Amino acid sequence: MPEPAAVGRVALVTGGSRGIGAAVSYRLAADGLAVHLVCRSAVEAGRGVVKEIEAAGGRAVLHRADIGDETEVERLVERVTAQEGALHVLVNNAAVIDDQLLAVTRTDRWENVLRTNLTGPFLTSRAVLPTMLDQGWGRVINISSNSARTPGPGQSAYAASKGGLEALTRALAVEVGHKGIRVNCVAPGKIRTEMTAAVADRLGSDGDGTRWGLPEDISGLVAFLTRDEADYIQGQTFTVDGGRMIMRSPGRRSR
Ligand SMILES: NC(=O)c1ccc[n+]([C@@H]2O[C@H](COP(=O)([O-])OP(=O)(O)OC[C@H]3O[C@@H](n4cnc5c(N)ncnc54)[C@H](OP(=O)(O)O)[C@@H]3O)[C@@H](O)[C@H]2O)c1
Repeated sequence: MPEPAAVGRVALVTGGSRGIGAAVSYRLAADGLAVHLVCRSAVEAGRGVVKEIEAAGGRAVLHRADIGDETEVERLVERVTAQEGALHVLVNNAAVIDDQLLAVTRTDRWENVLRTNLTGPFLTSRAVLPTMLDQGWGRVINISSNSARTPGPGQSAYAASKGGLEALTRALAVEVGHKGIRVNCVAPGKIRTEMTAAVADRLGSDGDGTRWGLPEDISGLVAFLTRDEADYIQGQTFTVDGGRMIMRSPGRRSR
């Protein structure tokens, strides 16, 4: 059943063509929001998400844009606001992972991860702010990762980008909180998506006793943070990892 207040609201979900972004798009559409989802190349997958939302009675529009490209982001947000006359929710979900040990990481590969995962959310947030400020209402939800706090070897670029995103969440929250805009962050643990499919198949359950999560394990909290009832939550990062972060080691768990 749609949340009554959400009907008529408009969301922009980056990386909405698959994985966590697709689950967030389905969930927001089910809550009654018009969902504009963005991908860079997975257009067929994105069309599939739009079709499923429409089949369920929702409204969705697919856009193709590179969120690390300033001009493309500005045009994207102009298109959405021109079409809808409003923009209430931004979910900064799109990201890339390109793990390798720091000692052998080439600068261009480091910069590509930072450009997509950190500069991208900066560009989209800056582009949606004028509309949200005019409305006096907005929700920005950034998707970080457990890797910001507990990175594996080879994750320096990814972890730095997500740590930066969590800091950006707090910094923007401080700037716009008094204008009715809430900025929060969700940090998933290990979630089965294309990004992690190879690792999931190789590792199975990796011994810490927590299962691999599903995109739907993340989308419910994201949807909650977009609502009016989340108005008193600001500048926070929520870990959603089945308890993995609190288990220091399998040995500790078994005692
Ligand atoms: N899966 C996990 O275990 C896990 C854990 C912690 C955090 N996260 C975070 O959760 C978010 C979603 O992860 P996921 O596993 O669902 O990823 P995914 O399956 O790899 O999907 C990534 C999405 O982002 C889009 N994208 C990537 N670069 C883009 C760009 N430059 N411009 C526009 N769109 C772009 C992709 O579209 P194209 O293919 O068209 O580029 C795709 O729609 C990410 O922020 C990730 O860091 C995931």
